[in-house]
Amino acid sequence: MVQDIFELPGPEGKALVGNLLDLSQDPLGFLTHCAREYGDIVPMRLGLTPTCLVTHPDLIEEILKDRDSFIKSRGFQALRTLLGEGLLTSEGESWFRQRRLVQPVFHQKLIASYATVMVEYTERMLTTWQDGETRNIHADMMRLTLNIVMKCLFNQNIDEGNAQAIAHALDVAMNWFESKRQQNFLIWEWFPRPENIRYRNAISQMDTTIYSIIEQRRTSGEDPGDLLSMLMQARDEDDGTGMSDRQLRDEVATLMLAGHETTANALTWTWMLLAQHPQVLAKLQTELQEVLD
Ligand code: HEM
Repeated sequence: MVQDIFELPGPEGKALVGNLLDLSQDPLGFLTHCAREYGDIVPMRLGLTPTCLVTHPDLIEEILKDRDSFIKSRGFQALRTLLGEGLLTSEGESWFRQRRLVQPVFHQKLIASYATVMVEYTERMLTTWQDGETRNIHADMMRLTLNIVMKCLFNQNIDEGNAQAIAHALDVAMNWFESKRQQNFLIWEWFPRPENIRYRNAISQMDTTIYSIIEQRRTSGEDPGDLLSMLMQARDEDDGTGMSDRQLRDEVATLMLAGHETTANALTWTWMLLAQHPQVLAKLQTELQEVLD
């Protein structure tokens, strides 16, 4: 079967790098072109790694259902040095158990309560904006989503000591990760280069802060109803066990990373595209007025 897939039509690659350059120069354009040109399953090569682009929802479902053979890409594996065995980076049975434990965090009622924080923080940000000024919208969105994540996760504001330490560590780690991505994750993170040392120091600073928040919660018994307390209270349906401190740390770091930069990027692109397409902007404004007033 694997043999057959790689005989399907796909984009021609260069000798050593395969299709890596096409993908890194224009990821969305290249993948969209492949799906349109070659069909539901497109074989390609990223460096020396044979890879497959699967775009049909039924086929994607089939892959995702096969818990044992759905393994994470090299990028996600590299992310394990930062996120450990959190939901984004774990696989198989370990992912399944954690997923069940974390499920309450995604309950609809809780999502609605995060929405209140989102609206409040956005309104607060907007009061600092002046008509006619030029702003770095991506910096604004990064700060806004980080503020929201910190509030929902730890019930803390970004300018409070702990939150700032975590945000800084995450920033260093993400810059490191981006430079590794450009090298296709082929450079070892334990090699004593200055950037690798900075990365490891950032992780240890983040760990110290997260562990101290967990410890403080355990000793005080305080329950501010945030995501961290939900995670600390979660129990496995079968054996009644909860998460270890290490698992808590991994899930907290995962939620912080997964919920912050992704959302900021999506918002920044949204504003840019809306600015370039005034008719879509007008439609959105009408809908906001009619539906949400
Ligand atoms: C526009 C914003 C977002 C985008 C584009 C995005 C994208 C993704 C993608 C592509 C995955 C699948 C990764 C994989 O396994 O291959 C994923 C997983 C995940 N995302 Fe997001 N995400 C966004 C927002 C968020 C937010 C706000 C949160 C939580 C605060 C979040 C938490 C997670 C978690 C926990 C997973 C792992 C789920 C699991 O495997 O069980 N994401 N996200």
